[in-house]
Amino acid sequence: MEVKKIAVIGAGVSGLGAMKSCLEEGLEPMCFEKSNDIGGLWRYEEAPESGSPGIYKSLTCNTSKEMTAFSDYPVPDHYPNYMHNSRMMEYLRMYARHFGLMNHIQFQTKVCSVRKRPDFSSSGQWDVVVESGGKQKTYIFDGVMVCSGHYTEKYLPLQDFTGIQRFQGRYLHSWEYKHPDSFVGKRVLVIGIGNSGADVAGEISRVAEQVFLSTRRGAWIWNRVWDNGNPMDITLFTRYNRAIQKLYPTFLINRLAENKLNSRFNHANYGLQATHRFLSHQSTISDDLPNHIISGKVMVKPNVKEFTETTAIFEDDTEENIDAVVFATGYTLSFPFLADDSAILDSQHTMFKFVFPPQLEKPTLAFIGILQPVGATIPTSELQSRWAVRVFAGLKKLPSESDMMSNINRRKEKMANEFIKSPRDIHRVQYIDYMDEIASEIGVKPNLFSLLLWDTKLAMEIFYGPCTPYQFRLQGPGKWAGARSAILSQRHRILKPLRTRVLQHSGASSSSLFWVKSIFTIIMFFIVPILVIMQIIYN
Ligand SMILES: Cc1cc2nc3c(=O)[nH]c(=O)nc-3n(C[C@H](O)[C@H](O)[C@H](O)COP(=O)(O)OP(=O)(O)OC[C@H]3O[C@@H](n4cnc5c(N)ncnc54)[C@H](O)[C@@H]3O)c2cc1C
Ligand SMILES: *[C@@H]1O[C@H](CO)[C@@H](O)[C@H](O)[C@H]1NC(C)=O
Repeated sequence: MEVKKIAVIGAGVSGLGAMKSCLEEGLEPMCFEKSNDIGGLWRYEEAPESGSPGIYKSLTCNTSKEMTAFSDYPVPDHYPNYMHNSRMMEYLRMYARHFGLMNHIQFQTKVCSVRKRPDFSSSGQWDVVVESGGKQKTYIFDGVMVCSGHYTEKYLPLQDFTGIQRFQGRYLHSWEYKHPDSFVGKRVLVIGIGNSGADVAGEISRVAEQVFLSTRRGAWIWNRVWDNGNPMDITLFTRYNRAIQKLYPTFLINRLAENKLNSRFNHANYGLQATHRFLSHQSTISDDLPNHIISGKVMVKPNVKEFTETTAIFEDDTEENIDAVVFATGYTLSFPFLADDSAILDSQHTMFKFVFPPQLEKPTLAFIGILQPVGATIPTSELQSRWAVRVFAGLKKLPSESDMMSNINRRKEKMANEFIKSPRDIHRVQYIDYMDEIASEIGVKPNLFSLLLWDTKLAMEIFYGPCTPYQFRLQGPGKWAGARSAILSQRHRILKPLRTRVLQHSGASSSSLFWVKSIFTIIMFFIVPILVIMQIIYN
Protein backbone atom coordinates (compact mmCIF):
# COMPACT_ATOMS: atom_id res chain seq x y z
CA MET A 1 0.00 0.00 0.00
CA GLU A 2 1.17 3.49 -0.77
CA VAL A 3 2.15 5.71 2.13
CA LYS A 4 -0.51 8.31 2.83
CA LYS A 5 0.56 11.90 2.32
CA ILE A 6 -0.67 14.44 4.83
CA ALA A 7 -0.58 18.22 4.51
CA VAL A 8 0.11 20.07 7.76
CA ILE A 9 -0.79 23.76 7.60
CA GLY A 10 1.44 25.78 9.94
CA ALA A 11 4.59 24.98 11.91
CA GLY A 12 3.56 26.34 15.29
CA VAL A 13 3.35 24.02 18.29
CA SER A 14 0.28 22.31 16.84
CA GLY A 15 1.94 21.73 13.47
CA LEU A 16 5.07 20.29 15.07
CA GLY A 17 3.04 17.78 17.09
CA ALA A 18 0.99 16.95 14.01
CA MET A 19 4.09 16.11 11.95
CA LYS A 20 5.52 14.02 14.75
CA SER A 21 2.24 12.10 15.04
CA CYS A 22 2.18 11.41 11.29
CA LEU A 23 5.69 10.01 11.42
CA GLU A 24 4.75 7.89 14.42
CA GLU A 25 1.87 6.27 12.48
CA GLY A 26 3.88 5.80 9.28
CA LEU A 27 2.21 8.63 7.36
CA GLU A 28 4.19 11.14 5.33
CA PRO A 29 3.71 14.72 6.49
CA MET A 30 4.45 17.79 4.43
CA CYS A 31 4.17 21.00 6.40
CA PHE A 32 3.60 24.40 4.80
CA GLU A 33 4.62 27.39 6.88
CA LYS A 34 4.13 30.87 5.51
CA SER A 35 6.83 32.49 7.64
CA ASN A 36 10.49 31.54 7.53
CA ASP A 37 10.67 29.68 10.85
CA ILE A 38 8.90 27.31 13.23
CA GLY A 39 7.22 28.27 16.51
CA GLY A 40 4.19 30.28 15.37
CA LEU A 41 2.94 32.42 18.23
CA TRP A 42 6.03 31.79 20.33
CA ARG A 43 8.46 33.37 17.90
CA TYR A 44 8.80 37.01 18.81
CA GLU A 45 8.96 39.38 15.89
CA GLU A 46 9.31 43.14 16.04
CA ALA A 47 7.01 43.61 13.06
CA PRO A 48 4.93 40.53 12.29
CA GLU A 49 3.15 40.26 8.98
CA SER A 50 -0.57 40.83 9.12
CA GLY A 51 -2.38 37.52 9.54
CA SER A 52 0.46 36.06 11.63
CA PRO A 53 0.46 35.66 15.39
CA GLY A 54 2.09 38.52 17.30
CA ILE A 55 3.35 38.66 20.88
CA TYR A 56 4.99 41.21 23.14
CA LYS A 57 8.66 40.95 23.94
CA SER A 58 8.19 40.02 27.59
CA LEU A 59 5.58 37.29 27.03
CA THR A 60 6.14 34.43 29.45
CA CYS A 61 4.14 31.19 29.56
CA ASN A 62 1.16 31.08 31.87
CA THR A 63 1.37 27.30 32.02
CA SER A 64 4.32 25.63 33.71
CA LYS A 65 6.88 23.57 31.82
CA GLU A 66 5.84 20.15 33.12
CA MET A 67 2.25 20.76 32.04
CA THR A 68 3.24 22.44 28.77
CA ALA A 69 5.64 19.81 27.41
CA PHE A 70 5.13 17.38 24.54
CA SER A 71 4.20 14.04 26.07
CA ASP A 72 7.38 12.20 25.15
CA TYR A 73 9.84 15.06 25.38
CA PRO A 74 10.06 16.74 28.81
CA VAL A 75 11.48 20.24 29.00
CA PRO A 76 15.12 20.13 30.21
CA ASP A 77 15.26 19.93 34.00
CA HIS A 78 17.17 23.18 34.46
CA TYR A 79 14.71 25.29 32.43
CA PRO A 80 12.54 27.60 34.53
CA ASN A 81 9.00 26.48 35.29
CA TYR A 82 7.48 29.42 33.46
CA MET A 83 9.42 29.91 30.28
CA HIS A 84 9.96 33.19 28.50
CA ASN A 85 9.00 32.99 24.81
CA SER A 86 12.67 32.73 23.81
CA ARG A 87 13.09 29.69 26.07
CA MET A 88 9.97 28.15 24.64
CA MET A 89 11.48 28.62 21.16
CA GLU A 90 14.66 26.81 22.28
CA TYR A 91 12.55 23.92 23.50
CA LEU A 92 10.58 23.78 20.25
CA ARG A 93 13.79 23.81 18.19
CA MET A 94 15.17 20.92 20.24
CA TYR A 95 11.95 18.99 19.75
CA ALA A 96 11.88 19.58 15.99
CA ARG A 97 15.51 18.53 15.66
CA HIS A 98 15.14 15.50 17.91
CA PHE A 99 12.28 14.04 15.90
CA GLY A 100 13.67 15.07 12.52
CA LEU A 101 10.80 17.39 11.66
CA MET A 102 12.70 20.16 9.89
CA ASN A 103 13.06 18.20 6.63
CA HIS A 104 9.30 17.98 6.35
CA ILE A 105 8.66 21.73 6.40
CA GLN A 106 8.46 24.05 3.40
CA PHE A 107 9.02 27.57 4.72
CA GLN A 108 7.77 30.78 3.14
CA THR A 109 5.00 28.76 1.62
CA LYS A 110 1.47 29.86 2.22
CA VAL A 111 -1.54 27.61 1.83
CA CYS A 112 -4.04 29.51 -0.33
CA SER A 113 -6.79 26.97 -0.72
CA VAL A 114 -7.83 23.50 0.35
CA ARG A 115 -10.49 21.88 -1.84
CA LYS A 116 -12.04 18.44 -2.13
CA ARG A 117 -10.89 16.57 -5.22
CA PRO A 118 -13.65 15.59 -7.68
CA ASP A 119 -13.48 11.97 -6.52
CA PHE A 120 -13.47 13.00 -2.85
CA SER A 121 -16.37 10.79 -1.82
CA SER A 122 -14.35 7.69 -2.73
CA SER A 123 -10.73 8.85 -2.35
CA GLY A 124 -11.05 11.40 0.48
CA GLN A 125 -8.29 13.36 -1.25
CA TRP A 126 -7.65 17.10 -1.28
CA ASP A 127 -6.19 19.62 -3.69
CA VAL A 128 -3.97 21.95 -1.74
CA VAL A 129 -2.85 25.11 -3.51
CA VAL A 130 0.22 26.79 -2.05
CA GLU A 131 2.05 29.96 -2.95
CA SER A 132 5.78 30.47 -2.63
CA GLY A 133 7.92 33.24 -4.10
CA GLY A 134 4.93 34.51 -6.09
CA LYS A 135 4.34 31.11 -7.73
CA GLN A 136 1.39 28.84 -7.12
CA LYS A 137 1.56 25.08 -7.00
CA THR A 138 -1.08 22.40 -6.44
CA TYR A 139 -0.48 19.23 -4.44
CA ILE A 140 -2.71 16.22 -3.88
CA PHE A 141 -3.00 14.97 -0.29
CA ASP A 142 -4.71 12.04 1.40
CA GLY A 143 -5.32 14.08 4.53
CA VAL A 144 -5.05 17.64 5.81
CA MET A 145 -4.26 18.85 9.33
CA VAL A 146 -5.16 22.48 9.89
CA CYS A 147 -2.71 23.88 12.47
CA SER A 148 -2.91 27.55 11.53
CA GLY A 149 -3.68 28.82 15.03
CA HIS A 150 -6.42 31.05 16.36
CA TYR A 151 -4.60 34.16 17.47
CA THR A 152 -4.02 35.77 14.12
CA GLU A 153 -7.14 37.78 13.25
CA LYS A 154 -7.36 40.75 15.59
CA TYR A 155 -10.78 41.42 17.06
CA LEU A 156 -11.05 45.21 17.17
CA PRO A 157 -14.67 46.17 17.89
CA LEU A 158 -14.29 49.88 17.07
CA GLN A 159 -18.01 50.14 16.31
CA ASP A 160 -18.69 49.62 20.05
CA PHE A 161 -16.60 52.66 20.96
CA THR A 162 -18.42 55.87 20.20
CA GLY A 163 -16.14 58.71 19.22
CA ILE A 164 -13.00 56.65 18.60
CA GLN A 165 -12.80 58.28 15.13
CA ARG A 166 -12.37 61.73 16.59
CA PHE A 167 -9.93 60.59 19.28
CA GLN A 168 -6.62 62.24 18.38
CA GLY A 169 -4.28 59.99 20.34
CA ARG A 170 -2.86 56.74 19.14
CA TYR A 171 -4.71 53.46 19.35
CA LEU A 172 -3.61 49.92 18.66
CA HIS A 173 -4.51 46.28 19.23
CA SER A 174 -2.47 44.27 21.76
CA TRP A 175 -1.29 42.22 18.75
CA GLU A 176 0.78 45.27 17.70
CA TYR A 177 2.10 45.96 21.19
CA LYS A 178 5.74 44.92 21.53
CA HIS A 179 7.35 46.82 24.43
CA PRO A 180 6.55 49.84 26.60
CA ASP A 181 9.18 52.21 25.13
CA SER A 182 6.75 54.40 23.25
CA PHE A 183 4.53 54.89 26.29
CA VAL A 184 7.05 56.62 28.57
CA GLY A 185 5.33 59.40 30.50
CA LYS A 186 2.00 58.85 28.70
CA ARG A 187 -1.53 58.37 30.00
CA VAL A 188 -2.60 55.03 28.60
CA LEU A 189 -5.92 53.24 28.54
CA VAL A 190 -5.93 49.46 28.20
CA ILE A 191 -9.26 47.90 27.28
CA GLY A 192 -9.90 44.28 28.24
CA ILE A 193 -8.71 42.20 31.14
CA GLY A 194 -7.71 38.91 29.56
CA ASN A 195 -4.18 37.62 30.02
CA SER A 196 -2.82 40.06 27.45
CA GLY A 197 -4.68 43.07 28.88
CA ALA A 198 -3.42 42.41 32.38
CA ASP A 199 0.16 41.85 31.18
CA VAL A 200 0.25 44.87 28.92
CA ALA A 201 -1.32 47.22 31.48
CA GLY A 202 1.17 46.12 34.12
CA GLU A 203 4.16 46.44 31.86
CA ILE A 204 3.25 49.87 30.52
CA SER A 205 2.45 51.14 34.02
CA ARG A 206 6.12 50.89 34.96
CA VAL A 207 7.01 53.72 32.60
CA ALA A 208 3.74 55.55 31.95
CA GLU A 209 2.39 58.49 33.87
CA GLN A 210 -0.83 56.58 34.50
CA VAL A 211 -2.51 53.45 33.18
CA PHE A 212 -6.27 52.91 33.20
CA LEU A 213 -7.55 49.39 32.80
CA SER A 214 -11.11 49.26 31.57
CA THR A 215 -13.22 46.15 32.01
CA ARG A 216 -16.85 45.44 31.34
CA ARG A 217 -17.26 42.32 33.45
CA GLY A 218 -14.20 42.16 35.67
CA ALA A 219 -12.16 39.00 36.10
CA TRP A 220 -10.97 36.45 38.58
CA ILE A 221 -7.22 36.76 38.83
CA TRP A 222 -4.98 33.87 39.71
CA ASN A 223 -1.24 33.80 39.85
CA ARG A 224 1.51 31.60 38.50
CA VAL A 225 3.17 31.28 41.89
CA TRP A 226 0.80 29.24 44.05
CA ASP A 227 0.95 27.98 47.63
CA ASN A 228 4.44 27.12 48.82
CA GLY A 229 5.75 28.74 45.65
CA ASN A 230 4.69 25.84 43.45
CA PRO A 231 3.47 26.50 39.92
CA MET A 232 -0.29 27.04 39.96
CA ASP A 233 -1.22 24.42 37.37
CA ILE A 234 0.99 21.80 39.00
CA THR A 235 -0.88 22.27 42.25
CA LEU A 236 -4.42 22.60 40.92
CA PHE A 237 -4.67 20.50 37.78
CA THR A 238 -4.62 17.08 39.40
CA ARG A 239 -6.95 14.13 38.92
CA TYR A 240 -7.68 14.25 42.60
CA ASN A 241 -8.91 17.85 42.41
CA ARG A 242 -10.92 17.09 39.31
CA ALA A 243 -12.61 14.16 41.05
CA ILE A 244 -13.45 16.38 44.03
CA GLN A 245 -14.75 19.05 41.66
CA LYS A 246 -17.09 16.55 40.07
CA LEU A 247 -18.31 15.25 43.42
CA TYR A 248 -19.21 18.63 44.87
CA PRO A 249 -21.88 21.00 43.56
CA THR A 250 -20.70 23.83 41.34
CA PHE A 251 -21.75 26.63 43.70
CA LEU A 252 -19.52 25.18 46.41
CA ILE A 253 -16.52 24.91 44.11
CA ASN A 254 -17.13 28.47 42.95
CA ARG A 255 -17.35 29.67 46.52
CA LEU A 256 -14.16 27.87 47.57
CA ALA A 257 -12.21 29.10 44.55
CA GLU A 258 -13.44 32.68 44.88
CA ASN A 259 -12.63 32.74 48.60
CA LYS A 260 -9.17 31.49 47.84
CA LEU A 261 -8.59 34.15 45.16
CA ASN A 262 -10.08 36.87 47.37
CA SER A 263 -7.78 35.91 50.21
CA ARG A 264 -4.85 37.12 48.11
CA PHE A 265 -6.61 40.42 47.42
CA ASN A 266 -10.27 41.28 47.66
CA HIS A 267 -11.50 41.52 44.08
CA ALA A 268 -14.34 43.89 45.01
CA ASN A 269 -12.03 46.33 46.80
CA TYR A 270 -9.72 46.31 43.81
CA GLY A 271 -12.52 47.04 41.37
CA LEU A 272 -12.00 43.70 39.67
CA GLN A 273 -15.00 41.79 41.05
CA ALA A 274 -16.33 39.73 38.16
CA THR A 275 -19.98 39.72 37.17
CA HIS A 276 -19.67 35.96 36.57
CA ARG A 277 -18.82 33.07 38.85
CA PHE A 278 -15.35 31.58 38.85
CA LEU A 279 -16.06 28.46 36.79
CA SER A 280 -18.21 30.10 34.14
CA HIS A 281 -15.55 32.09 32.31
CA GLN A 282 -11.84 32.11 31.56
CA SER A 283 -9.84 33.50 34.47
CA THR A 284 -6.84 35.74 34.03
CA ILE A 285 -3.38 34.78 35.18
CA SER A 286 -1.42 37.73 36.48
CA ASP A 287 1.10 37.81 39.26
CA ASP A 288 1.70 41.56 39.03
CA LEU A 289 -1.67 43.21 38.51
CA PRO A 290 -2.62 43.64 42.21
CA ASN A 291 0.84 45.13 42.88
CA HIS A 292 0.34 47.73 40.18
CA ILE A 293 -3.13 48.52 41.45
CA ILE A 294 -2.13 48.92 45.07
CA SER A 295 0.72 51.20 44.08
CA GLY A 296 -1.66 53.32 42.01
CA LYS A 297 0.10 52.77 38.70
CA VAL A 298 -2.94 50.99 37.28
CA MET A 299 -6.45 52.30 37.94
CA VAL A 300 -9.33 49.95 37.19
CA LYS A 301 -12.22 51.56 35.30
CA PRO A 302 -15.59 50.42 33.96
CA ASN A 303 -16.48 50.26 30.28
CA VAL A 304 -15.78 53.28 28.08
CA LYS A 305 -18.95 55.19 27.20
CA GLU A 306 -17.32 57.41 24.61
CA PHE A 307 -14.13 58.99 23.42
CA THR A 308 -13.60 62.71 22.83
CA GLU A 309 -10.57 64.23 21.01
CA THR A 310 -8.37 63.86 24.09
CA THR A 311 -10.30 61.98 26.73
CA ALA A 312 -12.23 58.84 27.53
CA ILE A 313 -15.55 59.07 29.34
CA PHE A 314 -16.41 55.95 31.32
CA GLU A 315 -19.78 54.49 32.21
CA ASP A 316 -19.54 55.94 35.71
CA ASP A 317 -19.29 59.39 34.02
CA THR A 318 -15.69 59.94 35.08
CA GLU A 319 -13.49 61.45 32.40
CA GLU A 320 -9.74 61.01 31.97
CA ASN A 321 -7.17 62.55 29.64
CA ILE A 322 -5.71 59.82 27.48
CA ASP A 323 -2.72 59.78 25.09
CA ALA A 324 -3.01 56.21 23.84
CA VAL A 325 -5.40 53.26 23.87
CA VAL A 326 -4.46 49.58 23.71
CA PHE A 327 -7.31 47.27 22.73
CA ALA A 328 -6.66 43.90 24.36
CA THR A 329 -9.91 42.65 22.92
CA GLY A 330 -8.78 39.30 21.62
CA TYR A 331 -9.01 37.50 18.31
CA THR A 332 -11.48 35.92 15.93
CA LEU A 333 -11.14 32.60 14.19
CA SER A 334 -10.61 32.46 10.48
CA PHE A 335 -9.56 29.90 7.90
CA PRO A 336 -9.22 31.93 4.69
CA PHE A 337 -7.95 28.91 2.72
CA LEU A 338 -11.26 27.13 3.29
CA ALA A 339 -13.33 30.17 2.37
CA ASP A 340 -14.72 28.87 -0.89
CA ASP A 341 -16.07 25.69 0.60
CA SER A 342 -18.80 26.46 3.08
CA ALA A 343 -19.80 22.79 3.10
CA ILE A 344 -16.71 22.03 5.18
CA LEU A 345 -17.23 24.44 8.04
CA ASP A 346 -20.30 26.38 9.10
CA SER A 347 -20.01 29.83 10.64
CA GLN A 348 -19.92 28.36 14.16
CA HIS A 349 -16.99 26.08 13.32
CA THR A 350 -18.90 23.03 14.39
CA MET A 351 -16.56 20.10 14.86
CA PHE A 352 -16.69 16.69 16.46
CA LYS A 353 -14.64 16.99 19.66
CA PHE A 354 -13.15 20.17 18.14
CA VAL A 355 -11.25 18.14 15.54
CA PHE A 356 -13.40 16.66 12.77
CA PRO A 357 -16.02 18.56 10.75
CA PRO A 358 -18.91 16.09 10.88
CA GLN A 359 -20.37 16.51 7.42
CA LEU A 360 -17.51 15.20 5.27
CA GLU A 361 -17.96 11.95 3.37
CA LYS A 362 -14.44 10.92 4.39
CA PRO A 363 -12.76 11.92 7.66
CA THR A 364 -9.58 13.24 6.07
CA LEU A 365 -9.59 16.79 7.42
CA ALA A 366 -8.64 17.55 11.02
CA PHE A 367 -8.41 20.81 12.96
CA ILE A 368 -5.66 20.83 15.55
CA GLY A 369 -5.40 23.31 18.42
CA ILE A 370 -8.66 25.13 17.72
CA LEU A 371 -9.81 25.17 21.32
CA GLN A 372 -9.29 26.96 24.61
CA PRO A 373 -8.15 24.43 27.15
CA VAL A 374 -8.11 25.57 30.76
CA GLY A 375 -4.54 24.37 30.75
CA ALA A 376 -1.70 24.02 28.27
CA THR A 377 -2.07 23.86 24.50
CA ILE A 378 0.84 21.66 23.41
CA PRO A 379 -0.39 18.43 25.05
CA THR A 380 -3.98 18.99 23.94
CA SER A 381 -3.02 19.66 20.33
CA GLU A 382 -0.64 16.72 20.37
CA LEU A 383 -3.28 14.32 21.60
CA GLN A 384 -5.73 15.59 18.98
CA SER A 385 -3.08 14.88 16.35
CA ARG A 386 -2.48 11.38 17.66
CA TRP A 387 -6.19 10.71 17.32
CA ALA A 388 -6.45 12.34 13.89
CA VAL A 389 -3.63 10.27 12.38
CA ARG A 390 -5.20 7.04 13.68
CA VAL A 391 -8.38 8.03 11.90
CA PHE A 392 -6.48 8.97 8.73
CA ALA A 393 -4.64 5.66 8.81
CA GLY A 394 -7.98 3.83 9.01
CA LEU A 395 -7.18 2.36 12.43
CA LYS A 396 -10.00 4.20 14.09
CA LYS A 397 -13.52 4.93 12.83
CA LEU A 398 -15.62 7.99 13.51
CA PRO A 399 -19.30 7.64 14.42
CA SER A 400 -21.97 8.40 11.83
CA GLU A 401 -22.69 12.02 10.95
CA SER A 402 -25.90 12.05 12.98
CA ASP A 403 -24.17 10.58 16.04
CA MET A 404 -21.43 13.16 15.74
CA MET A 405 -24.01 15.93 15.44
CA SER A 406 -25.87 14.81 18.51
CA ASN A 407 -22.60 14.61 20.43
CA ILE A 408 -21.81 18.16 19.29
CA ASN A 409 -25.23 19.42 20.31
CA ARG A 410 -25.00 17.77 23.70
CA ARG A 411 -21.66 19.47 24.28
CA LYS A 412 -23.06 22.81 23.16
CA GLU A 413 -25.96 22.55 25.58
CA LYS A 414 -23.66 21.60 28.41
CA MET A 415 -21.36 24.52 27.63
CA ALA A 416 -24.24 26.96 27.38
CA ASN A 417 -25.20 25.96 30.92
CA GLU A 418 -21.69 26.08 32.30
CA PHE A 419 -20.17 29.12 30.69
CA ILE A 420 -21.26 32.69 30.02
CA LYS A 421 -21.85 33.68 26.41
CA SER A 422 -18.54 34.86 24.98
CA PRO A 423 -16.66 34.05 21.79
CA ARG A 424 -13.76 32.58 23.73
CA ASP A 425 -15.95 30.20 25.67
CA ILE A 426 -17.28 28.44 22.56
CA HIS A 427 -14.06 26.46 22.46
CA ARG A 428 -13.41 26.18 26.17
CA VAL A 429 -12.71 22.75 27.66
CA GLN A 430 -11.72 21.40 31.06
CA TYR A 431 -8.20 20.16 30.53
CA ILE A 432 -8.24 16.76 32.23
CA ASP A 433 -11.72 15.83 30.99
CA TYR A 434 -10.88 16.67 27.42
CA MET A 435 -7.51 14.88 27.52
CA ASP A 436 -9.17 11.75 28.90
CA GLU A 437 -11.93 11.95 26.32
CA ILE A 438 -9.51 12.05 23.38
CA ALA A 439 -7.17 9.56 25.05
CA SER A 440 -10.05 7.09 25.32
CA GLU A 441 -10.57 7.37 21.57
CA ILE A 442 -6.99 6.25 21.01
CA GLY A 443 -6.77 3.85 23.93
CA VAL A 444 -4.06 5.72 25.81
CA LYS A 445 -5.95 6.86 28.88
CA PRO A 446 -3.97 5.69 31.92
CA ASN A 447 -5.65 2.77 33.63
CA LEU A 448 -5.55 3.92 37.23
CA PHE A 449 -7.24 0.84 38.57
CA SER A 450 -4.67 -1.64 37.33
CA LEU A 451 -1.82 0.74 38.12
CA LEU A 452 -3.07 0.94 41.68
CA LEU A 453 -2.61 -2.80 41.96
CA TRP A 454 0.65 -3.19 40.05
CA ASP A 455 2.46 0.10 40.45
CA THR A 456 1.08 1.93 43.47
CA LYS A 457 3.81 4.54 43.51
CA LEU A 458 3.06 5.56 39.93
CA ALA A 459 -0.70 5.43 40.47
CA MET A 460 -0.38 7.81 43.41
CA GLU A 461 1.62 10.32 41.46
CA ILE A 462 -0.84 10.11 38.58
CA PHE A 463 -3.83 10.64 40.84
CA TYR A 464 -2.53 13.19 43.33
CA GLY A 465 0.22 14.72 41.27
CA PRO A 466 -0.16 17.11 38.36
CA CYS A 467 -1.88 15.63 35.32
CA THR A 468 1.21 15.92 33.16
CA PRO A 469 1.16 14.86 29.48
CA TYR A 470 3.46 11.84 30.04
CA GLN A 471 0.42 10.08 31.54
CA PHE A 472 -0.85 9.58 28.01
CA ARG A 473 2.27 7.69 26.91
CA LEU A 474 2.10 4.87 29.45
CA GLN A 475 0.07 2.44 27.35
CA GLY A 476 -1.51 1.85 23.97
CA PRO A 477 -0.39 3.16 20.58
CA GLY A 478 2.53 5.57 20.83
CA LYS A 479 3.57 4.16 24.20
CA TRP A 480 6.87 5.67 25.35
CA ALA A 481 9.28 3.68 27.51
CA GLY A 482 10.38 6.84 29.33
CA ALA A 483 6.89 7.86 30.45
CA ARG A 484 6.96 6.22 33.86
CA SER A 485 10.27 7.73 34.85
CA ALA A 486 9.25 11.13 33.41
CA ILE A 487 6.27 11.12 35.77
CA LEU A 488 8.22 9.97 38.79
CA SER A 489 10.94 12.56 38.22
CA GLN A 490 8.70 15.54 37.45
CA ARG A 491 8.99 17.02 40.93
CA HIS A 492 12.72 16.95 40.58
CA ARG A 493 12.47 18.91 37.32
CA ILE A 494 10.16 21.45 38.97
CA LEU A 495 12.55 22.18 41.84
CA LYS A 496 15.83 21.93 39.95
CA PRO A 497 15.77 25.41 38.31
CA LEU A 498 14.85 27.01 41.66
CA ARG A 499 17.76 25.49 43.54
CA THR A 500 20.41 27.87 42.36
CA ARG A 501 21.61 28.53 45.86
CA VAL A 502 21.68 25.12 47.40
CA LEU A 503 21.07 25.00 51.13
CA GLN A 504 22.44 22.30 53.40
CA HIS A 505 19.06 21.55 54.89
CA SER A 506 16.50 22.39 52.28
CA GLY A 507 13.97 21.64 54.99
CA ALA A 508 10.65 23.23 54.21
CA SER A 509 9.83 21.76 50.86
CA SER A 510 10.94 18.19 51.46
CA SER A 511 9.38 17.96 54.91
CA SER A 512 6.09 19.41 53.74
CA LEU A 513 6.18 16.98 50.83
CA PHE A 514 6.73 14.12 53.22
CA TRP A 515 3.81 15.30 55.29
CA VAL A 516 1.55 15.61 52.31
CA LYS A 517 2.60 12.22 51.03
CA SER A 518 1.91 10.48 54.32
CA ILE A 519 -1.58 11.90 54.56
CA PHE A 520 -2.29 11.06 50.95
CA THR A 521 -1.19 7.48 51.50
CA ILE A 522 -3.67 7.12 54.32
CA ILE A 523 -6.51 8.78 52.43
CA MET A 524 -5.75 6.80 49.33
CA PHE A 525 -6.82 3.49 50.73
CA PHE A 526 -10.20 4.95 51.56
CA ILE A 527 -10.97 7.44 48.85
CA VAL A 528 -9.29 6.10 45.74
CA PRO A 529 -11.29 2.88 45.56
CA ILE A 530 -14.51 4.84 46.00
CA LEU A 531 -13.56 7.32 43.29
CA VAL A 532 -12.45 4.60 40.96
CA ILE A 533 -15.71 2.74 41.42
CA MET A 534 -17.63 5.96 40.85
CA GLN A 535 -15.60 6.64 37.75
CA ILE A 536 -16.46 3.22 36.41
CA ILE A 537 -20.14 3.77 37.16
CA TYR A 538 -20.20 7.17 35.52
CA ASN A 539 -18.26 6.12 32.43
C1 LIG B 1 -0.59 36.04 24.50
C2 LIG B 1 -0.78 34.55 24.49
C3 LIG B 1 -0.19 33.76 25.48
C4 LIG B 1 -0.34 32.39 25.49
N1 LIG B 1 0.26 31.66 26.48
C5 LIG B 1 0.12 30.32 26.50
C6 LIG B 1 0.78 29.51 27.49
O1 LIG B 1 1.46 30.02 28.36
N2 LIG B 1 0.64 28.18 27.46
C7 LIG B 1 -0.12 27.59 26.50
O2 LIG B 1 -0.22 26.37 26.52
N3 LIG B 1 -0.74 28.31 25.55
C8 LIG B 1 -0.64 29.64 25.53
N4 LIG B 1 -1.26 30.37 24.55
C9 LIG B 1 -2.04 29.67 23.54
C10 LIG B 1 -1.23 29.52 22.24
O3 LIG B 1 -2.10 29.85 21.22
C11 LIG B 1 -0.67 28.15 22.07
O4 LIG B 1 0.29 27.90 23.07
C12 LIG B 1 0.05 27.86 20.76
O5 LIG B 1 1.02 28.82 20.48
C13 LIG B 1 -0.87 27.68 19.61
O6 LIG B 1 -0.09 27.10 18.59
P1 LIG B 1 -0.61 26.75 17.17
O7 LIG B 1 0.46 25.96 16.52
O8 LIG B 1 -1.95 26.12 17.27
O9 LIG B 1 -0.85 28.14 16.43
P2 LIG B 1 0.23 29.27 16.08
O10 LIG B 1 1.29 29.34 17.09
O11 LIG B 1 -0.57 30.49 15.80
O12 LIG B 1 0.90 28.75 14.73
C14 LIG B 1 0.22 28.75 13.51
C15 LIG B 1 1.25 28.73 12.40
O13 LIG B 1 0.56 28.55 11.17
C16 LIG B 1 1.10 29.41 10.19
N5 LIG B 1 0.06 29.63 9.19
C17 LIG B 1 -1.17 30.20 9.39
N6 LIG B 1 -1.86 30.22 8.24
C18 LIG B 1 -1.09 29.66 7.29
C19 LIG B 1 -1.26 29.40 5.91
N7 LIG B 1 -2.38 29.72 5.25
N8 LIG B 1 -0.25 28.81 5.24
C20 LIG B 1 0.90 28.48 5.88
N9 LIG B 1 1.11 28.70 7.18
C21 LIG B 1 0.13 29.29 7.89
C22 LIG B 1 1.50 30.65 10.96
O14 LIG B 1 2.50 31.37 10.28
C23 LIG B 1 2.02 30.04 12.28
O15 LIG B 1 3.39 29.76 12.23
C24 LIG B 1 -1.11 31.76 24.50
C25 LIG B 1 -1.71 32.54 23.52
C26 LIG B 1 -1.55 33.92 23.50
C27 LIG B 1 -2.23 34.72 22.44
C1 LIG C 1 -2.77 31.71 28.92
O1 LIG C 1 -2.97 32.82 28.11
C2 LIG C 1 -3.67 32.59 26.91
C3 LIG C 1 -3.71 33.86 26.11
O2 LIG C 1 -4.45 34.86 26.70
C4 LIG C 1 -5.06 32.05 27.22
O3 LIG C 1 -5.75 31.77 26.03
C5 LIG C 1 -4.93 30.80 28.06
O4 LIG C 1 -6.20 30.33 28.43
C6 LIG C 1 -4.11 31.08 29.32
N1 LIG C 1 -3.92 29.84 30.05
C7 LIG C 1 -4.49 29.58 31.24
C8 LIG C 1 -4.16 28.27 31.87
O5 LIG C 1 -5.23 30.36 31.79
